Amino acid sequence: MPNRAACRLRLASVSLSTPRPLESGLAIEVRGLTHSYRSDGRELRVLGDLDFNVEPGGYTSITGASGAGKTTLLTLLGGLEPPHAGCVQVGSYDLRLLSGDDLAAYRRSSVGFVFQHSGLLETLTALENVELAFTLSGTSQRRRRHKAKTLLSAVGLSERAIHQPAQLSGGERQRVAIARALANRPGLVLADEPTGNLDEASAERVVALLEELHATSRCTLVLITHNPSIAARADQRLLLTGGKLTPA
Ligand SMILES: Nc1ncnc2c1ncn2[C@@H]1O[C@H](COP(=O)(O)OP(=O)(O)O)[C@@H](O)[C@H]1O
Ligand SMILES: [Mg+2]
Repeated sequence: MPNRAACRLRLASVSLSTPRPLESGLAIEVRGLTHSYRSDGRELRVLGDLDFNVEPGGYTSITGASGAGKTTLLTLLGGLEPPHAGCVQVGSYDLRLLSGDDLAAYRRSSVGFVFQHSGLLETLTALENVELAFTLSGTSQRRRRHKAKTLLSAVGLSERAIHQPAQLSGGERQRVAIARALANRPGLVLADEPTGNLDEASAERVVALLEELHATSRCTLVLITHNPSIAARADQRLLLTGGKLTPA
């Protein structure tokens, strides 16, 4: 992994070479968010009347026991599901009012997801996995390849472009996933235990990379982690318990 200064330099070149202006970090305002699942005919309330704010460009960590509802909360923030009740405002998007195609457009243009499992397609190379993120954006094939190469370089993986996920370490796979998440220059990056499967050194590199990208791109970053020392690095540290967020 290159040092921070080198990484910053490369990220600066990403900004310069990308025509679309950066979408600056999106503010998050959540009020009275309630969400339940139906399971075995019973209702399981996971989030109950939850409130929280993140400033534009903020860096928030969320911890909480397994099953507390962290992934559910991220799913709602990312527009993967509409909230059952309450208000979820992300930038100018009121997610309650969006449905179907509009939610998909919000996700495509504004949200970058990084999950615990990289979710890379095993039959594609690292470069092709990143390129895939541009498929729906109408970008030409040549341009897609160029942008994907620039992104892989930004995460320090130029030399791994033609490798398939099985040939990469867990940390490298997560770095490809981060490059893919940033492809459309999202205003909000949602990372759900991105270091959950990594050893300590790889986890440190992945979090340092996310933090560099956050600082350089000014996106808003919400990071879920079980690791207290990683959580402590965020500007705002929250604990999800009993369906609500409290200061950690
Ligand atoms: N699609 C679903 N259907 C039914 N129950 C679900 C579903 N998704 C999550 N749950 C339940 O909701 C609770 C919270 O899950 P989750 O948000 O994944 O928690 P966390 O990410 O904090 O571990 C858990 O009890 C889980 O089993
Ligand atoms: Mg989870």
